[in-house]
Amino acid sequence: MDILKSLSRKSDYSKTQLQFIIAAWVLSSIGEKKKPISLKDGDVLEEDYDKQSIYSLLYSIYRSMGEVQDEHGTKYEWTFNTWGYSWPASWGADPIASNDPQRFGKHAYTGLYQFPAVKEYVSKQNNKVNIVEMGCGTGGGAHLVCKDVLPQCTYEAVDMQQAAIQTCKRKFVPVLNGRLVATWADATQLTIKEGSADFVAVCETHVTEMPGIVTDEDKLFFKTAHRLMKQGGYLVWGNAIPDSTWKPCFDYLETIGMKQIEVRDVTKEAVIARDQDEARVKVYVEHCLKQFWGFRIPGLGKKKRLEAELALKNFYRDPGTNLYENMKNGTDSYKVVLFQKVA
Ligand SMILES: C[S@@+](CC[C@H](N)C(=O)[O-])C[C@H]1O[C@@H](n2cnc3c(N)ncnc32)[C@H](O)[C@@H]1O
Repeated sequence: MDILKSLSRKSDYSKTQLQFIIAAWVLSSIGEKKKPISLKDGDVLEEDYDKQSIYSLLYSIYRSMGEVQDEHGTKYEWTFNTWGYSWPASWGADPIASNDPQRFGKHAYTGLYQFPAVKEYVSKQNNKVNIVEMGCGTGGGAHLVCKDVLPQCTYEAVDMQQAAIQTCKRKFVPVLNGRLVATWADATQLTIKEGSADFVAVCETHVTEMPGIVTDEDKLFFKTAHRLMKQGGYLVWGNAIPDSTWKPCFDYLETIGMKQIEVRDVTKEAVIARDQDEARVKVYVEHCLKQFWGFRIPGLGKKKRLEAELALKNFYRDPGTNLYENMKNGTDSYKVVLFQKVA
C-alpha cells in the first residue's frame, strides 16, 4: 500500500478503513528499497506522490479526528488546510482573535478581500456578490467569508476531494441558509454557468507548483476561472508557491484577458505564522499518529511513524522542514494577488 499514491479522491475513508490503510502502509515497508519521505526534512519528491491521494488521506484524517484541543486546550476541528500568514500590521487591526487556533488560515481568506479595489467593487454591488472558490478544501474559509467577511454574498465552494466536500456539507452548508453550495468537482472541468462570479477565489489551491512554468493543468485552471468570472469581476488568489512561478502565471493570465491590479507579498508574515503555529501542529500530529495501531507494529511501526510525522510536518511547512526552509530562503514566496477580467 502506497498512501502517497494509491488513495482515491472519490472516497471519504472511515476511521476503521484508515486503520487498515495505515497498517498496510507500515507492513508494505518490508524490503522497501527507496524511501520516498526524507528522514532529514520530510521532503517528498513530486514524482513520489499524487496530490489526490495525499488530500484524500488528510481530509479523511481531519474528519475522523473530529474536535481536538490546541496547545492551550482550546477545542476546534481542523478545517483550514491552510498555511496562512500573520496579519500584516499595515493592513490595520487584526480581524481574527489572537487565540483562535486557525487564525492564520482565517487571515488568508480574509486577506483575499482586503484590496481597496475589491472593497469598492463590493460596495458598488450593494454587498451582494457571488463567489466561486476553486479548491475550497473543507469549506472552512467559505464559511468564514459568508459569515464574517462578506455577510451578504452567495458562495459556491468547489473541491476535487469527496472527503473535504462531505465535511463542508456536514458542517458549513447547513448553517448558511442556502447561501453556500458545496460542489465536488475537478476545478479544471467545471460546468458552473459562464460569467456568473463576481469573484473567483483561490486560497492555497494545489496548482502552480512547478518551478518556473505554467503547466497544462494550471492553464486549464486559469481558463476556467476566467470563464466563470463576470466582465469586470476579480480573481483573488493567495498562495505560497515557487517564487519563479509567479511571473509566468501573471504573464499567462494577461494573455487570457486578465489585468493585474495588485500584488502583495506576505512571505515574511507567512514564516511568522509557521513559527507561531509550531506548537499546535506538534500537538495535532502527535494526537493523530497515536490513534493508529499500525504504528505500534513491532520494528516497522516506529520507522513509519517517524516518516508520517515528518511528511505531515513538511506538508504544514513546520519549522525545520524542507517547505519551511524554502519559504525562509525565498525559493517559495507567499503572495496575495488581484486580477480583473477585462476582455
Ligand atoms: C492546501 S489545500 C487548501 C484547501 C483550502 N483552500 C484551505 O485553505 O483550507 C489544496 C486544495 O486544493 C485542492 N485542489 C487541487 N487541485 C484541484 C483541482 N484541480 N480542482 C479542485 N480542487 C483542487 C485539493 O483537493 C485541496 O483541497
